[in-house]
Amino acid sequence: MTASQLMVAERLSRHFDASPSWLARKLAGTPRRILKAVDEVSFAIPEGATLALVGESGCGKSTAARCVAGLLAPSSGTARYRDTDMREVAKGRAGLRREVQMIFQDPYGSLNPRLRVGRTIADPLVALGIAGSRVERRERVGQLLREVGLSPADAEKFPHEFSGGQRQRIAIARALASKPAFVICDEPTSALDVSIQAQILNLMRDLQDQHGLTYLFISHNLAVVDHMADRVAVMYLGRIVENATREQLFSAPAHPYTRQLIAASPSAGAIGKRHEPMRGEVPNPANPPAGCSFHPRCPAATNICRSERPELRSLGDAREAACHHAEALA
Ligand SMILES: Nc1ncnc2c1ncn2[C@@H]1O[C@H](COP(=O)(O)OP(=O)(O)OP(=O)(O)O)[C@@H](O)[C@H]1O
Ligand SMILES: [Mg+2]
Repeated sequence: MTASQLMVAERLSRHFDASPSWLARKLAGTPRRILKAVDEVSFAIPEGATLALVGESGCGKSTAARCVAGLLAPSSGTARYRDTDMREVAKGRAGLRREVQMIFQDPYGSLNPRLRVGRTIADPLVALGIAGSRVERRERVGQLLREVGLSPADAEKFPHEFSGGQRQRIAIARALASKPAFVICDEPTSALDVSIQAQILNLMRDLQDQHGLTYLFISHNLAVVDHMADRVAVMYLGRIVENATREQLFSAPAHPYTRQLIAASPSAGAIGKRHEPMRGEVPNPANPPAGCSFHPRCPAATNICRSERPELRSLGDAREAACHHAEALA
């Protein structure tokens, strides 16, 4: 690990107890079932870069994001921000709390409908004890509103007076209020109209350039990922199956799952359209297939894939893939 890595996740895991009730287990004689929502996930994000986490619904993106944000304790492994365990950062003990912020998918759900927008944006400053005087606070809120393309006068309004895109701008302003260095974005544009998505993504990129932000950017949409990411980590059933630069991933995907995702996704610049459907269904994550968990959907699967789980390994050119046949398929 080098000093320039802002966030490092090491064998990060989060398990949930997905067992039926005690009585149902006793009656049916079934054991407890542990769902490995995030299973030994490792990655590093250099300062100023964007790592995208991509994968189908239920693959563990949000769970990983919440562990990285310190909102959820990992079952094992660590997420370290500037070499400090995120659990310490989230508790505020390391003095780094203001540097890590999160933006969620649903701006309406994450904004308090009863609070004026100015209050909402200033909230993190108050919570962190860095709000300053009323005048300073109002000035800062006005400046933030301008930065996200709204007007200082909007501070007096309530969330319902804004469109979905404008509400996401407000959520972004709030996330930036404490001058963070690292922002975790969980599907920040997935709830928005296709025409609005690109505007918000462009705003997020401009803000990244202006403030030197580092992003962990979560999306199930590869066109969005193509627009935002420097590196891409592809997740499948809780595990990273490929980690590559954006160029490598889109020009020569190494994992059969990545190939299928790309074939099924809209091309860059055509956010919202779909091509081929994905082959097969995502298995039950509480009962994943043996060996490579992707093998039932993989056209290249052989015997070893059904029995031995492939580890994520380097393919030599700064990319990693978890596939027994990655080289042969290249
Ligand atoms: N609190 C919880 N208790 C039990 N299971 C959970 C909990 N949170 C998530 N899970 C399960 O963990 C798995 C991963 O969920 P997660 O929300 O992280 O996926 P995701 O990739 O963000 O999906 P989506 O694209 O739909 O947002 C799913 O099978 C989900 O049902
Ligand atoms: Mg999610």
